[in-house]
Amino acid sequence: MSVLDVPELALVALVGVSGSGKSTFARRHFAPSQVLSSDAFRAMVADDENDQSASADAFDALHYVAGKRLRAGRLTVVDATNLQPHARAALVRVAREHDVLPVAIVLDVPEALAWERTEARADRTFGRQVLARMSRDLRRSYGQLAREGFRKVHVLRGVEQIEAAELRYERLF
Ligand code: GTP
Ligand code: MG
Repeated sequence: MSVLDVPELALVALVGVSGSGKSTFARRHFAPSQVLSSDAFRAMVADDENDQSASADAFDALHYVAGKRLRAGRLTVVDATNLQPHARAALVRVAREHDVLPVAIVLDVPEALAWERTEARADRTFGRQVLARMSRDLRRSYGQLAREGFRKVHVLRGVEQIEAAELRYERLF
């Protein structure tokens, strides 16, 4: 079992390709109200959780709500792929603005499994190359996460580790 230490007040960024199990992990470990998902925010601003052209507005709104929650001292989880440095930088910035520790939890499953899961979903219609690009972005992310300002970077490799993970909250004071 991997025990993941998470400060009791943190901004938790889930990091992983589509189909890695981020939303499933978020549902298992956090209350629905603690989880801000890019899909939900795309739906809020554009009536369509897959409308990529709505991403900029969706993330603006997500960051705004994250800031409100952190200011109120509430643990917040961002369920998005978070594979791009600029996406993660925005989260580190929101966390710092509110004196909250940013933490990353990376879910890394074999690309073939992520593809199998993604293909099985009616609400995911992108092609194999898009997933391959996400995998490359994930590989690249490994060397970058710590120096981007994440206080902790937890990496779960494979379904077994992901399913066995437990969170342990650290008191801050
Ligand atoms: P995107 O939202 O597309 O980025 O994907 P995601 O990373 O949120 O993946 P999601 O949690 O939606 O998982 C996709 C599918 O994989 C789920 O519908 C489950 O069927 C399966 N799955 C996810 N996590 C697990 C897991 O830990 N164990 C098993 N057995 N299946 C999982
Ligand atoms: Mg998801």
